[in-house]
Amino acid sequence: MYRLQNIDTDVFLKEYWQKKPLLIRQGFKDFEDPIDEHELAGLTEEESVDSRIVNNQAGIWEVAHGPYDDINEHCLGQWSLLVQSVDHFVPDADSLMNTFDFIPVWRMDDLMVSYSNTGAGVGPHLDQYDVFIIQGKGSRRWQVGLPSDYETVRPHCDLSQITGFTPVIDEVLTAGDIIYIPANHPHNGVALEPCMNYSVGFRAPSQQEMLTSFADYAIDNNLLSNRYQDQALSARKFSGEIKQQEVAQFKALLAESLQSDAFEKWLPTFLSDNKKAEDESNQQIEEFSEQAIMEMLESGEYFYRAPGIKPIFVEPKTTCEPSSSFTFHIAGEAYSGPSGSANLVKKFLTEPFITQEFLVDDDGQPQYILHNHFTALLTMLVNKGHWYIEE
Ligand code: SIN
Ligand code: CO
Repeated sequence: MYRLQNIDTDVFLKEYWQKKPLLIRQGFKDFEDPIDEHELAGLTEEESVDSRIVNNQAGIWEVAHGPYDDINEHCLGQWSLLVQSVDHFVPDADSLMNTFDFIPVWRMDDLMVSYSNTGAGVGPHLDQYDVFIIQGKGSRRWQVGLPSDYETVRPHCDLSQITGFTPVIDEVLTAGDIIYIPANHPHNGVALEPCMNYSVGFRAPSQQEMLTSFADYAIDNNLLSNRYQDQALSARKFSGEIKQQEVAQFKALLAESLQSDAFEKWLPTFLSDNKKAEDESNQQIEEFSEQAIMEMLESGEYFYRAPGIKPIFVEPKTTCEPSSSFTFHIAGEAYSGPSGSANLVKKFLTEPFITQEFLVDDDGQPQYILHNHFTALLTMLVNKGHWYIEE
């Protein structure tokens, strides 16, 4: 439904990604908003949806977090409603976000959607993450500057702004235009008329986050229990002294854990971990038997990947044995495809939906050998809520 254009993704990665801001005029031709402001407001009624309204009345900033008793109470002066992770709730918003999959999906965070009235914005600020902001209906003036030591101010405890910056991009965006803003580049968007914006946000884990998660994983799975050893302990003048050689031994012990198989197992678990997907999995999901899934597949039902689901997998170190099974991760959990099916499963994971035809070979013959195992996998994914059947 959405097709990204007017961007050469190879040139973009080489020259702009994490380096320079870029304006992409008409990145989407005849752009149609995947959601309108009323549906956006409707989403904020859910407890699990993270939303905020930022308003400015005569220079006084306020921030209110959803769900709201009465949303209109906060839509005062110049205001923006900003809703996180809309890709998890609205299939068309998920499709829009997926057009940016020339960047790996494990680098993506969520699609934040905003609606602003005339004159509104959240003020000049910095974000720690890269973002593509797509202009939906309406128009907005976007200014973007270069990284520097900016003075941060907090006109409200939930709002971090900077005092000002010199723009290197200062343009009015209309529906279908896109602006790419690398992390830590100051920016400011001011609505020239009521407008929608879609922010494809990326994640970049810090060493702190990784070490914490890796340690939790090791504890949960009883891994990495090797201890410090020092058969070569030598006498020293000060008993409290740690010798440089010993500092190196401690570093080596810790470095060994990063070189272990445990690291390879943990990384995709960590990168696919998605708190939001977990929240949704608490919802009631209808359970199907393998037999029922098989029958639905054979009767031509469509199986859709649920919005917000981004399966990932690690490239094998060596060329895979054709018969080996294929492991991928969704929301921090590992799944295995049938033996010898790596290519089929990879294709399945990237298709927005499949039907029975997915399981026929080039000559139109059903691949019966795979059928049973594949159905078992599909059943598990449907029962987890990661794929669903369109009624
Ligand atoms: C928006 O108002 O839609 C985006 C806010 C931002 O600049 O991060
Ligand atoms: Co921003």
